[in-house]
Amino acid sequence: MSKIVVFTGAPGCGKGTQARILKDKCGIPHLSTGEMLRDAGKAGTKLGLEAKALIDKGNLVPDEMVTKLISERIGQEDCKNGFILDGYPRTLPQAKVLGEMFEKMGLMLDAVIDIQVPDEIIAERILGRYACQKCGAGYHDKFIQPKVYGVCDHCGGTEFVRRIDDNRATVSTRLTKYRALTMPILPYFEEKGKLFCIDGTGSIDAVSKKVEAVIGL
Ligand code: AP5
Repeated sequence: MSKIVVFTGAPGCGKGTQARILKDKCGIPHLSTGEMLRDAGKAGTKLGLEAKALIDKGNLVPDEMVTKLISERIGQEDCKNGFILDGYPRTLPQAKVLGEMFEKMGLMLDAVIDIQVPDEIIAERILGRYACQKCGAGYHDKFIQPKVYGVCDHCGGTEFVRRIDDNRATVSTRLTKYRALTMPILPYFEEKGKLFCIDGTGSIDAVSKKVEAVIGL
């Protein structure tokens, strides 16, 4: 199904989780700027190392850096039938540049979905998150555990990792940056009639049903 959807919300609200579910349902790519930047960091590129230093402390990377990544990515063949943006745009300048990109490319944004979750739940979700080192499948100490303890359900991997920025001090910085730099995009998209706010506190399935209702699946 052809859709262009943006997921926004505080760090750990469930953007990535919902974007992956929607990707499977709609068969369109999931573009996470956080993942792109972490991959660049692992690859040791200049951009990746610069980004890693900022991400590890909970700061945003410069607008131009992520905008370049996204503009190159959405021009690729597999984005012809739509895509899901997870964590971009994250500042007002990024939102405005995205609008210009879409205009040039003749693309139409369907929805910006803001997943709303209170801070105490955010901390619990972020601090409990971990992933399989081999295939990247996501787990959580409390909410999503592997069927067999210590063994990845998807690839059988037995090594797991936590993100460096998933610690209490960095979560607090990320929430502060979110309020100061990302929340201003909400009125911007509301004015354009594209903003849909959903309660992200229920189960993953319950939130997913709300996402489906917004985009008419
Ligand atoms: P990014 O990777 O985007 O991090 P984030 O925004 O902090 O979001 P997270 O990935 O932490 O959380 P999420 O909302 O995806 O939640 P998830 O689904 O994993 O960005 C990292 C960094 O890169 C940024 O800090 C910044 O430095 C940089 N960056 C990226 N984009 C940028 C941009 N555009 N501009 C500038 N800098 C940028 O869920 C969290 C946990 O909760 C998981 O364990 C999950 O299983 C669990 N969970 C999810 N939903 C539920 C539910 N309903 N019930 C119970 N558990 C749930």
